[in-house]
Amino acid sequence: MTTGVSKNKWEEKDSKIVTNEDYNGDFSYEISYKGKTSEKDILSSKNKHQYNSLYNPDALNKIYFGDNFDVLNYLLANSSLRGTVKLIYIDPPYGTNSIYQSRNQKSSYKDDLIGSHYLEFMRRRLILLKELLSNDGSIYVHLDGNMTFQIKMILDEVFGAKNFRGFITRKKCSNKNSTRKTYGNISDYMIFYSKSDKYTWQRATVEWSEAKITKEYPCIDEPTGRRYKKVPIHAPGTRNGQTGKEWKGMLPPPGKHWQYTPSKLTEFDENGEIYWSANGNPRRKVFFDKDKGIPVQDIWLDVQDSLNQNIKITGYPTEKNPYLLERIIKASSNEGDIVLDCFAGSGTTLDVANQLGRQFIGIDNSSEAIHNILKRFVIGLENMGDYVSKRKKKQRLTIEPPLPNSKEYTPHLKRHNNFSVLTDKRFTSTITAILDDFGLNNNINQKEIPNYKDVNSAIISHVTKVFA
Ligand SMILES: C[S@@+](CC[C@H](N)C(=O)[O-])C[C@H]1O[C@@H](n2cnc3c(N)ncnc32)[C@H](O)[C@@H]1O
Repeated sequence: MTTGVSKNKWEEKDSKIVTNEDYNGDFSYEISYKGKTSEKDILSSKNKHQYNSLYNPDALNKIYFGDNFDVLNYLLANSSLRGTVKLIYIDPPYGTNSIYQSRNQKSSYKDDLIGSHYLEFMRRRLILLKELLSNDGSIYVHLDGNMTFQIKMILDEVFGAKNFRGFITRKKCSNKNSTRKTYGNISDYMIFYSKSDKYTWQRATVEWSEAKITKEYPCIDEPTGRRYKKVPIHAPGTRNGQTGKEWKGMLPPPGKHWQYTPSKLTEFDENGEIYWSANGNPRRKVFFDKDKGIPVQDIWLDVQDSLNQNIKITGYPTEKNPYLLERIIKASSNEGDIVLDCFAGSGTTLDVANQLGRQFIGIDNSSEAIHNILKRFVIGLENMGDYVSKRKKKQRLTIEPPLPNSKEYTPHLKRHNNFSVLTDKRFTSTITAILDDFGLNNNINQKEIPNYKDVNSAIISHVTKVFA
């Protein structure tokens, strides 16, 4: 593998590259499609509706039922919220021209916008989302191969190509034995942008497995019993300064320099951190106990959805793996920050954000989604295997990677009601009925809901009927 180096290293006289094309002038580009409106018009749009709280009005976390374009405009009308959201994760419809049902066969949402209609739908929302983001904020857009590249171009336009930070490929499901004349489709993508070059970032790492520790750190330090690996103490390129000088009577190998100054190397040696081979070659000992974990790269194989029968889910279609959200939320926000998901679905982002001590704003226009968000918070998740065995499906025997180890997110955490539920007056009765299903009384500030086990048995039996 080779990486590019600075353009000024190009030696013109040695190059034998022939080209007949001259490119002059403006290098900018943009995606064009029918119905593309001006950014100015989108930014001057106003909300058509007012959103009133039907439950727990004072809670900081908010769940909105409504079309997200209108709700985002409503949020932007509140000047104290503009520019304060630290992280946006969205998992919108993918432009697949399909409809989605939950595991209990309830119609959940439509993914029926296609072509330019889909692009403009997304662009209008992305333009508003940028206004809500803080200057050090980030956005992740989760899509599949259908519209990813068109939306990447729109993201370049809205956020600026220089703010593109990463393109993550995720293994979304187990391998397929499809009869289609193409490769098994097991990947989806997350496109990551920041609002500026100063953005919140904590490098994500995964823990080492025992087998990998033994493979990567094969040596044991005799006096201390610590595990270590040996690494060279020189690097390519010559230097005239300290790192090109003699150390312990040795010069760096030809064409190389020491990675550290001679005095630093002496310090390592005195601390027992240099390994001397039988023929007197020095190597540095890198100890495993100083390792901060394996940095996560841009291919994620360990956070697929519907991983195995023991994973906990609500049963909402296209529900994402919470450990995927945990990774994103920890990398791109801090405790107390606001995390927003305006295609909230079953509320995966909201639940994980809440457990990690972030504030959340969730929006969805499907009543089934709101139902599932409340189910997640009030009742909790169910083993995926419970759904499968109810429908007497054969258990598949697949060997899957373990979920990332997490101490901070747990699908069983104490249930809570630390959220407000809002909608506009057209949908008051729809949302009130859903709140009633979960025993959440209207317009009161509830300090605490009873523990899941103590919830009134009448509510449990009602909810059981609803989800049967
Ligand atoms: C792919 S699902 C999100 C799943 C979610 N990430 C989860 O883990 O459950 C997309 C969601 O976007 C919602 N949605 C689609 N169009 C919307 C709109 N205009 N306003 C608000 N929500 C919308 C759908 O109802 C659906 O719940």
